[in-house]
Amino acid sequence: MTAAAHTSAFRRPIIAANWKMHKTAQEAVSYGQKLLAGISGVTGVEVVVCPPFTALAALGPVLSGSDVALGAQNVHWEAAGAYTGEISAAMLVDAGCRYVIIGHSERRAMGETDEQVACKVKAAAAAGLTPIVCVGERIEDRRAGRTEELVTAQVRAALAGVAPEIAAKIVVAYEPVWAIGTGEHASPAEAGRVIGLIRSAVEATCGTHAASCVRIQYGGSVNAENIGGFLAEPEIDGALVGSASLDAGSFARIVRRAQEVKGS
Ligand code: PGA
Repeated sequence: MTAAAHTSAFRRPIIAANWKMHKTAQEAVSYGQKLLAGISGVTGVEVVVCPPFTALAALGPVLSGSDVALGAQNVHWEAAGAYTGEISAAMLVDAGCRYVIIGHSERRAMGETDEQVACKVKAAAAAGLTPIVCVGERIEDRRAGRTEELVTAQVRAALAGVAPEIAAKIVVAYEPVWAIGTGEHASPAEAGRVIGLIRSAVEATCGTHAASCVRIQYGGSVNAENIGGFLAEPEIDGALVGSASLDAGSFARIVRRAQEVKGS
């Protein structure tokens, strides 16, 4: 049986907010309170908020005791040392994080390599964090018909040497670079097709069980209006949301829509 033939019913949908370089600690606190009020009663959808490092300590206590998990936007692969400006996986765990975004295209554009992404995935998982590994093609890759090749190579590189039982627990975010922050998004069918290819790449790298368990999100100009279409695709297990996550009300609407389409 191929991974794609496995039912998605046991993969819990996961919606994550990526604030990028937005919000102070105080703004994070009021956002957290508003979000919790806006999604009260929602079950069956995992919700993650990834603020800047500087807001983790303030947002953590607001979310603790709720079902909303705290995540970070980056991590270093070394445990400690002379790495000015970097943050280790253990520090993120200490700050209350359960997730960490790794290999976002905005970081890859600043020089982050597939090898560094792979090291970060291993370090994060070893510390008990769930990596949200971002992959996606640039517009020139897509025009050149290289989407499949590129995305598959990114997945294989990120998961190289990762044990199947670890790979089964990670989250992958398929984010076409041309769709990030542009208002333009992939069609749900196209996103579902590429995500099916990503699942096959996970299967080739880490085996069938990991491929059928790994949750794969779509990201790129997701909002409350279009998320339903993405989540109706059986291969798509959730979304990584940038701009539309910055307002707590807007992000709450996305989460509630996810529950309508996918939740139990
Ligand atoms: P966007 O960003 O929703 O603003 O397109 C998504 C992301 O970069 O994760």
